[in-house]
Amino acid sequence: MKEVKVGLIGLGFMGSTHWRIYESLPGVKVVALADVDAAKRSGDVSKVVGNIGGGDNSAPLDMTGVAVYEDALELIAKADVDMIDICVPTPKHTEYILAALKAGRHVFSEKPLCRTLEEISVIRDAVRNAGKFFNVGMCVRAWPEYASAKEIVDSGKLGAVKSALFRRLSPSVDGNAWNNWFMCDEMSGGAALDLHTHDTDLVCYFFGNPVSVRSAGVRGLVSDNGVDHIITSYDYADKKFITAEGGWCAPGNVPFEMSFQIICEKGTLKLDASGYHLYWNCGKVETPDTGDASLPTGWHRELKYFTDCVRDNVTPDRYQTPESVFSSLAVVMAEINSVDSKLPVEVKYV
Ligand SMILES: NC(=O)c1ccc[n+]([C@@H]2O[C@H](COP(=O)([O-])OP(=O)(O)OC[C@H]3O[C@@H](n4cnc5c(N)ncnc54)[C@H](O)[C@@H]3O)[C@@H](O)[C@H]2O)c1
Repeated sequence: MKEVKVGLIGLGFMGSTHWRIYESLPGVKVVALADVDAAKRSGDVSKVVGNIGGGDNSAPLDMTGVAVYEDALELIAKADVDMIDICVPTPKHTEYILAALKAGRHVFSEKPLCRTLEEISVIRDAVRNAGKFFNVGMCVRAWPEYASAKEIVDSGKLGAVKSALFRRLSPSVDGNAWNNWFMCDEMSGGAALDLHTHDTDLVCYFFGNPVSVRSAGVRGLVSDNGVDHIITSYDYADKKFITAEGGWCAPGNVPFEMSFQIICEKGTLKLDASGYHLYWNCGKVETPDTGDASLPTGWHRELKYFTDCVRDNVTPDRYQTPESVFSSLAVVMAEINSVDSKLPVEVKYV
């Protein structure tokens, strides 16, 4: 099997999660790493904390055979890699995406794609011109229960969707990250851009792009001035009622919640603390199949898929197109505008 050589930029919560997943995938190897933090460059991830999952960080990562850089641009210019995986704080995504595409690499970038609406069109043009594969870590599209629900809704066997609610509530991430960047609105965009973006993206993935959004939210409850909690209703031309809620205001000991309820004409799909079920209107309850248990999370599935595409030289189209990610990010930006204006906002798709 041809080995896919990965250059990883950023070895924090997401970078170390990706590292371990690559280690578990046959025919994939991280051969280069860039991080501004010397401890990370030595493989020490003992201070890495995340809000969900992750691995045992006590033992250092094995850096044997890995070319290590302090400067990500140097890695992009010099390292012999097939693809670049960008896991640094959001404000640096655009610069590294553009450099990696220009250097002729396939690119996987963590979400959110970028910090501003203006950057989306710059990235879109670069992706179109580069002819390289480009995916963003919208991992929830590939998350087992969500991917299953999407398949069931699309199959039509439940009839039309009447309403849906997606919810993502995180315990506090204050103090978790490099330079505490999540708590700085200018860097992270608050919970709205960093966390709730997953559910906005799902809404667009499941139901198409909404015409407008109506959001309520609060700024500066836990971060400096970010939208720390948001609730949105997405407007479609038909009668379905689609909402999503996200926030990171709970104390650190409160469990992470990601959940949904999708009510259709013939049955309801629900993921909550009791598990993932399909409740038929007739009373029957099923636990739908969620696929390959050896790939237990959306992170595993998206990275396995993308690296397979790189190895086989097949354009990735299973979970996302770049255009679909550009659109859903424009929706999040409209939601933040709606929080601030307290008015419905029409989405400006770039
Ligand atoms: N898909 C998901 O489920 C998910 C979950 C968490 C975070 N994320 C995203 O992943 C990205 C990283 O978040 P995180 O939680 O891993 O943050 P983190 O703070 O834990 O890690 C960031 C890492 O980047 C390094 N770094 C900072 N600036 C750098 C630079 N210019 N060059 C090289 N290294 C640099 C830091 O030293 C640190 O090791 C963010 O975009 C975040 O939104 C995605």
